[in-house]
Amino acid sequence: MADLRSDTVTRPTAGMRAAMAAAEVGDDVYAEDPTVNALEAEVAALFGHEAALFAPTGTMANQIALQLVVPPGDELLCDADAHVVTYEVGAAAAYGAISTRTWPALGAGLDPGVVEAMIRPDGYFAVPTRAIAVEQTHNRGGGGVIPLATLRELRRVADTAGLALHCDGARIWHAHVADGVPLHEYGALFDTLSVCLSKGLGAPVGSLVVGSAEQITRARFLRKRMGGGMRQVGVLAAAGRYALAHHLDRLADDHARAARLAEALAPCGVLAGPVRTNIVPLDLTGHRLDARALATAARAEGVLLSVLGPRTARLVTHLDVDDAAIDHAAKILPDLLTP
Ligand SMILES: Cc1ncc(COP(=O)(O)O)c(C=O)c1O
Repeated sequence: MADLRSDTVTRPTAGMRAAMAAAEVGDDVYAEDPTVNALEAEVAALFGHEAALFAPTGTMANQIALQLVVPPGDELLCDADAHVVTYEVGAAAAYGAISTRTWPALGAGLDPGVVEAMIRPDGYFAVPTRAIAVEQTHNRGGGGVIPLATLRELRRVADTAGLALHCDGARIWHAHVADGVPLHEYGALFDTLSVCLSKGLGAPVGSLVVGSAEQITRARFLRKRMGGGMRQVGVLAAAGRYALAHHLDRLADDHARAARLAEALAPCGVLAGPVRTNIVPLDLTGHRLDARALATAARAEGVLLSVLGPRTARLVTHLDVDDAAIDHAAKILPDLLTP
């Protein structure tokens, strides 16, 4: 099977497993796990921030960060398709009592002027806006990369209004590889980031919240409250350290394979947009196959893809799909998708 559903389906490599087996560990709730401490210091330094905190999932890392920057009852602005309001099961409301307001889904093509116009100032019982969240790369936005110039303009908007800027950077590694923007340059633009080790980087578990030392002290408290205080998790942090050392630069291979898939599919007229990173978004509007029918037919031919909506689907490249799998998908999918 060529499993192109998600970059979360990867399994740890032999080298990663060896690193996990050899990891020095301690009780991380006491902040005594040397491998976790090393990972946190390494990731904070990569983004030029003071500190970072290891969390079990991207969802928890995002939600801890949102609680750091938006007090209960106050408002977060984000894209209508943002992971934080689409796939995190209402956590911002349920755990943070955060009020969210969204701009129409524009993926990586967001317009800072639209965001600026949505900001509500304090006063007369309006819900005060406290933070803006963006997603780099944008998952439902087809792996699009928000340009650096847009992010700089958004930083200006946030500073003018006194707001915090959070980045859901589950796949910020892909943006870094695609656009060549140094990670510390992204880091400098955000008050908080969440970054994920278990997507393209191929670790089995783990995300980090990145921010100031003061924020991360508070984040440690919030993580425990949410049930995310873990003990001898150096074995997992070791997988993350291994992934950063060995799997970051190779994301360019995933991007090239996604581009090859896009090239094969272009004549079928089903690409939802340009392919910038490891996600190939499909729009089957008007096609004789809907997303579910395509997924069923592709599965029968040994290719798995994700259904996102009745007429939307995606293919994602990752560590566990090689050139042979892409060749196969690039052959059978255009056959299935002939009008
Ligand atoms: C953009 C984005 N943010 C956050 C997450 C959440 O990660 P997790 O599944 O580890 O909670 C995902 C998961 O796919 C994601 O795509």
